[in-house]
Amino acid sequence: MGTRRQFIKTSAAAVAAGLTSSVWGESLLNLQPSGANDKIRVGLIGCRNMGWSNLTDFLLHKEVECIALCDIDSKILHERAAELEKTTGRKPKLFADYRKMLEMKELDAVIIGTPDHWHCLQFTDACSAGKDIYVEKPIANYIAECDVMVNAARKYGRITSVGQQQRSGNHWKTMVEYLQSGQLGTVACADIWANFNYGALSLPVSNTAVPEGVDYEMWQGPAQARPFNPQHFHGSWRMFWAYGGGLMTDWGVHLLDMVLWGMDIKHMPKRIVGLGGKFAYPDNCPETFDTLKVTYEFDSFLMNWSNVGGTETGPYNRNYGMAFKGTNGTLVANRDNWEIYPEWDGKNKRNKIESIKVEADFQDHKDHVSNFLACMKSRDFETACTIENGSLCAKYAHLGNIAARTGTVLVYDDSAKHFINNAEADKYLRPSYRSPWQFPNV
Ligand SMILES: NC(=O)c1ccc[n+]([C@@H]2O[C@H](COP(=O)([O-])OP(=O)(O)OC[C@H]3O[C@@H](n4cnc5c(N)ncnc54)[C@H](O)[C@@H]3O)[C@@H](O)[C@H]2O)c1
Repeated sequence: MGTRRQFIKTSAAAVAAGLTSSVWGESLLNLQPSGANDKIRVGLIGCRNMGWSNLTDFLLHKEVECIALCDIDSKILHERAAELEKTTGRKPKLFADYRKMLEMKELDAVIIGTPDHWHCLQFTDACSAGKDIYVEKPIANYIAECDVMVNAARKYGRITSVGQQQRSGNHWKTMVEYLQSGQLGTVACADIWANFNYGALSLPVSNTAVPEGVDYEMWQGPAQARPFNPQHFHGSWRMFWAYGGGLMTDWGVHLLDMVLWGMDIKHMPKRIVGLGGKFAYPDNCPETFDTLKVTYEFDSFLMNWSNVGGTETGPYNRNYGMAFKGTNGTLVANRDNWEIYPEWDGKNKRNKIESIKVEADFQDHKDHVSNFLACMKSRDFETACTIENGSLCAKYAHLGNIAARTGTVLVYDDSAKHFINNAEADKYLRPSYRSPWQFPNV
């Protein structure tokens, strides 16, 4: 088993490298960050949770200096600044407005760890300011935002990486290699499930005054204005449509990404069918679905998404994961491992394929950050998760939500940027930004 695992691991990097194709012009390859071959100076926008985790792994690299932090919550900003000073001995510049931070000429890269409704503006502004960008997933809260983000990264020649760290996971790479070796036979279907109740369990609470030190105007940004409520603020915003897309976008992008990668799908599905609702907790505060089923149809393959409210169990004794159903066996995976459940060959009285299990090494996130930094230094646009990868996956997640929100069978034309004969669904493609914020024109 050890030898097999070693073999799979060694060859995985080459396979992973072969999966991405260059979309960048040669002329862009000469662009250097200001601190190339020397220090990499980063700034963090959105310091509370994942942004901070990202920065922590950036700082494991001795060439990285965090010279700026930005947050609209001054308590969080100052706490993080004190923590940073304690661990690195350096005082970062502090900002409440990311646009001021982007004016810092010496800044090479930014990490965007804000809620989803902010990613597009902050990303496109960082592109035009000439920064490289590590942006959290899902890259955007609308399909049209995904397109302008891809355009901006290309136009300004920026190195980008999306926080879909599973793309850097060694066991995920070996899973993709196994799937693409054909050993599983014909794969007609992949099921994905994510049964988590976080965010779904609270009853609504009343609006309150904006907490001291919070710039709520700047938290809402381009989203439509609504009174302050702690339930749609830090952390729990993901269950409200103006800021996030529920489990479908929060976990969906990570898990859909692995199926799209494993099945080598780089385009839109033929059709999308989705149904969902607040069935397990109808009175609770989230707007997004606690229960949702979506099917994506391809020429000879179906990809199914499922989250079921009120349960934290699931198939193969896993509350989240995926199962690729092949004619020779089923490959089941999540962040812990992947394993094969062989089909039985009745004629020859033996399993059709070997039963194997490959464990995770849990280095995904660290490796993902290392990959971004290495790509920044070498000006390699093919990071482990490019903005194009992030865009494809975010679009899939949003398509699932739109199918269930409209209750219609969707056909999305990604060249024309609209649904076929579905004006109702088209309304969900592009946000109307609240003044003075303007949808980026890139
Ligand atoms: N890759 C992963 O595994 C993973 C895990 C968790 C979260 N995420 C992603 O990370 C992002 C952040 O999620 P979170 O859980 O950290 O959210 P959070 O609400 O805990 O933190 C967001 C932070 O951004 C700040 N912020 C909001 N608007 C801002 C603005 N305009 N300028 C500066 N700061 C602003 C908030 O004050 C807060 O400190 C989301 O996109 C989420 O999907 C990714």
